[in-house]
Amino acid sequence: MRVTNPFNHNELRDHLKLQQKCAWDLDTCVDWTIGVDAQKFLLPLDESSIAFPGASNEQKLALSQLMGLIVNATISEMEDCLPKLKKFAWDDVLKDYPVNPELVALGEQFFLEEAKHAAAFKRYLATFCQSLGIESDDLDLLLPKAFGSHFQAAIIRNARSGGQAFWWVVSNVEEVSINIFQGIYRNKNDVDPLYFNLHRRHLEEESRHANYAYLMIELNKHQNRGLRGWWHRKTDFTWAQLVAAPWVITELYKFFNVKHLKHKNPWFEVLASCIPLYEKMNQSEKIRRMFIAAPYVSWILNPNHRQMHIDATKDLGSWNLPFPEAKKVPVVTFDRGEMNHA
Ligand SMILES: [Fe+2]
Ligand SMILES: [Fe+2]
Repeated sequence: MRVTNPFNHNELRDHLKLQQKCAWDLDTCVDWTIGVDAQKFLLPLDESSIAFPGASNEQKLALSQLMGLIVNATISEMEDCLPKLKKFAWDDVLKDYPVNPELVALGEQFFLEEAKHAAAFKRYLATFCQSLGIESDDLDLLLPKAFGSHFQAAIIRNARSGGQAFWWVVSNVEEVSINIFQGIYRNKNDVDPLYFNLHRRHLEEESRHANYAYLMIELNKHQNRGLRGWWHRKTDFTWAQLVAAPWVITELYKFFNVKHLKHKNPWFEVLASCIPLYEKMNQSEKIRRMFIAAPYVSWILNPNHRQMHIDATKDLGSWNLPFPEAKKVPVVTFDRGEMNHA
């Protein structure tokens, strides 16, 4: 059921009931006691192992695990930052432009679910560290943290002036996390069972509440009819893309901190041994991988990878930067033969 009209309170009420009825519990949603299987992959890699062409099987396993943790941490950090922006991008909007109590209740449910997801992904990170004997403070040096303060300030400024950049960023993360699960599902026999179960649970709620961002964008269309509203409809999507991208890129470069960790754990040592593979690529190939070819990374950075975004921006007539063409089906697969020998 996809609810798209913020004024249809009957539909909103039914959707809220569905979300509440199907909501899962953090402690019982998955069997946390099984821990992490260190020999299993977390995310499928493409033929160039994201940005490390020529990686050995051992390196592929470690890269797949690190990428899986980066995805978890990115979703968790973004979801954690939602309550900080909630007042400006949601509370104030609905106070200035009251619609119906159902849209408010649905929003409360949305923020509640996101806080739970952030906690679930954090718990997975802690379980991974425990299973592999890694200090979580060490792993933290490689993972994205504290969704950038510049980003937050820009989003708040945009929301205060009647913009909807916040909801474009939210819908970006939601669409990418749904796409990520498709790849995990196709390779579920090779993926760590706890990681698979957690992402399956996440997908259930994401696909149920993915429409909320679009409800808020639709509401904004009715709320801001003047020149300012027109300007926001045209520019906010690109603005959201431009303020989030520097954070994503900067945080990815934390990977190189692994040089300082290689003596602490064999897992870090394997990751550090991948650095020369990245350095061997020329600059244009590095950029091509970041925006076109590397799964997960390019899906976030290049809107042409996101069909829901393409459709929504066409609908609204939003301006879009001329990003390069992306592959039509943004799902990668493992090379099973190689994986089984990893
Ligand atoms: Fe989520
Ligand atoms: Fe979500």
